[in-house]
Amino acid sequence: MIPKCVILKRGQRPNGCGAFGRYYRLSKVIGIKVLSGMWSNEYCTTQKELKASNQWKEAVREARLIRVARKSRIVPKCYGVVPVRREGQNGRLHVGIVMQHIPGRVLGNREPDVIERLSDRICNKCKLSMQDLHGWNILVTGKSRKRYWVIDFTPDLIDDLRR
Ligand SMILES: Nc1ncnc2c1ncn2[C@@H]1O[C@H](COP(=O)(O)OP(=O)(O)OP(=O)(O)O)[C@@H](O)[C@H]1O
Ligand SMILES: [Mg+2]
Repeated sequence: MIPKCVILKRGQRPNGCGAFGRYYRLSKVIGIKVLSGMWSNEYCTTQKELKASNQWKEAVREARLIRVARKSRIVPKCYGVVPVRREGQNGRLHVGIVMQHIPGRVLGNREPDVIERLSDRICNKCKLSMQDLHGWNILVTGKSRKRYWVIDFTPDLIDDLRR
């Protein structure tokens, strides 16, 4: 079941970090990307405030792009945008995108040819042009039969060719 609001435990460590988000695994099958970085100046304490904030709008845009990109079959499922509270952090709310947890490893700088292949696939199948796809936004699962997943759809780095 997808939670309506997520509470991160005191001291809960992220499983992954990027410039715009921290990723926390919530169960065997789902995780959440909590927006951080450039959004830390938006301090919201009520759901009404949060839902009117730029960080919420940004997360909704990202969640939409993930859903559009799912058609490529190389992108995790997206379950929506939810408020996030950190235990012990006096009332402050954050924004998180709940998604399918991919139990993989980051591609990094291995297999550079894969990046172009995945980005072409998303462009052809979904009409989304990824401006800055790199190996740290790609996860790999499987050993003998590898599967690659594109995980990061920060809206500013995507050209929506459907418009
Ligand atoms: N669905 C997922 N399943 C497993 N791990 C994930 C998932 N989404 C994100 N991660 C982990 O969290 C890290 C950061 O996620 P992501 O790249 O989406 O954040 P970001 O802050 O937007 O990054 P960037 O700085 O590249 O924009 C990833 O490198 C990965 O390790
Ligand atoms: Mg990233």
